[in-house]
Amino acid sequence: MNPLVLCGDEKNPIFRSVRAGEPARIDKLAPRTTFVRTLCALHCISAQVQSRFQKHLEDAQVIDRLPSKFAPSLMLKKLLMPFGPTDEDRYWWAQEEPHLLKDGALADVDPSRTLNDSQLKALESAAENTLTLIQGPPGVLDKQTQNTLHESRERNSLGTGKTTTCVQILRRWAMTFKRPNKSCRILATSGSNIAVDNLVEGLLKENVKVVRIGRPESTRPELAASAVENVAAKMLGVSSLAEVPSFHQRRQALHQAILEAQVVCCTAVTAGGGLLRDIYFPLVLIDEASQATEPATLVPICHGCKQLVLCGDHCQLPPTVKSEKEHSEVLKMSLFERLALTGVKPVMLNVQYRMHPLLSAFPSQAFYEGKLLDAIMQTPVEKPPSWKYKHNLVVVPVFDQESPKGTSHMNEGEAEVLVPWCLRPSASCY
Ligand SMILES: Nc1ncnc2c1ncn2[C@@H]1O[C@H](COP(=O)(O)OP(=O)(O)OP(=O)(O)O)[C@@H](O)[C@H]1O
Ligand SMILES: [Mg+2]
Repeated sequence: MNPLVLCGDEKNPIFRSVRAGEPARIDKLAPRTTFVRTLCALHCISAQVQSRFQKHLEDAQVIDRLPSKFAPSLMLKKLLMPFGPTDEDRYWWAQEEPHLLKDGALADVDPSRTLNDSQLKALESAAENTLTLIQGPPGVLDKQTQNTLHESRERNSLGTGKTTTCVQILRRWAMTFKRPNKSCRILATSGSNIAVDNLVEGLLKENVKVVRIGRPESTRPELAASAVENVAAKMLGVSSLAEVPSFHQRRQALHQAILEAQVVCCTAVTAGGGLLRDIYFPLVLIDEASQATEPATLVPICHGCKQLVLCGDHCQLPPTVKSEKEHSEVLKMSLFERLALTGVKPVMLNVQYRMHPLLSAFPSQAFYEGKLLDAIMQTPVEKPPSWKYKHNLVVVPVFDQESPKGTSHMNEGEAEVLVPWCLRPSASCY
């Protein structure tokens, strides 16, 4: 292994303690910001469920960071937390604010896109219920099939229109949201920047006024105009916010840009940042919620959420947890999965839009009990002249293991089998 060469400012006390040429040890720790924000959310949600916890919380500083006013509504908390309702809760439930969406407005079906029946059902649920789970492909799987799925490549998405449905929910929420006060907004999040960008892209196409919060370098360049810094700069009539010398003025412009948006988009953990500190989000939607850990999912919910939509598929990839410690296993169960396993029935999206039926037939039969329907027409696919098999699709078993390559993985055995097929003269036509 090549030695890592450290370069740094010699005046820095860290570098002064290391002598040139001597080996040094560097430990990479978990990001502190993520840790603090998820801890705040955990305290916020648990301290409110049973107030007796509050006096045991030692770290008052952490509690101060996220005041109890941002806890989700009692109704939602009871659905998320495994405690039964008390008499006191029932009293407060009765005091809950009236419905957040304008009555009847959701009956107006969007004419610009024809959603399928299962997607429309998800839209209805998101309008009416405090908590909605939307699941990609059907997940009524037995334990053995679930275990197979956990080991299998077939857990890749089948494209059942989850993000499309999320965008339509957000659009309708934006059209019908009765804001109780000025600092109330709709929040759309996901665990990854790519998924947040997909939501922003979809909302822009639907003419929803959206701002994107996050580091500019993690956003797709074509969506830069929606970045909160650029929206704020435009409001001030400058080409970049950096041109404004006053910190206070910059901050105020950013705040104003957020308040003027119909929907705020950011990653789940970014929702715990200072920029959104004083903003309420009674309506929260989280896409790809089955791939985020439960504490991370709680961060956007702890902005006074009253109505929540979680979209995902717990039969696909679980959250990535790198720790090898035994108790870190519990983090691999997302909030989405826990709720689904404890009896919250998800709305199933059962039509896939991505694969030719020739390809979807196998995962549908093997993993989804044949319940997955195809939106794509069964067009005939001609076989290459040298194709010696009866069917267009053949499954070739390869007994080789993946090995890490940079930040990704590779499988040399699979490549060895595939390359000769790709190099055949007939392959170029397909
Ligand atoms: N009702 C619909 N009618 C026509 N096309 C649709 C419909 N719903 C989704 N699609 C198309 O299906 C494709 C997949 O949709 P989408 O990205 O929303 O799926 P997804 O379930 O979020 O996928 P992933 O799991 O990869 O995030 C897109 O090309 C989308 O335009
Ligand atoms: Mg998606």
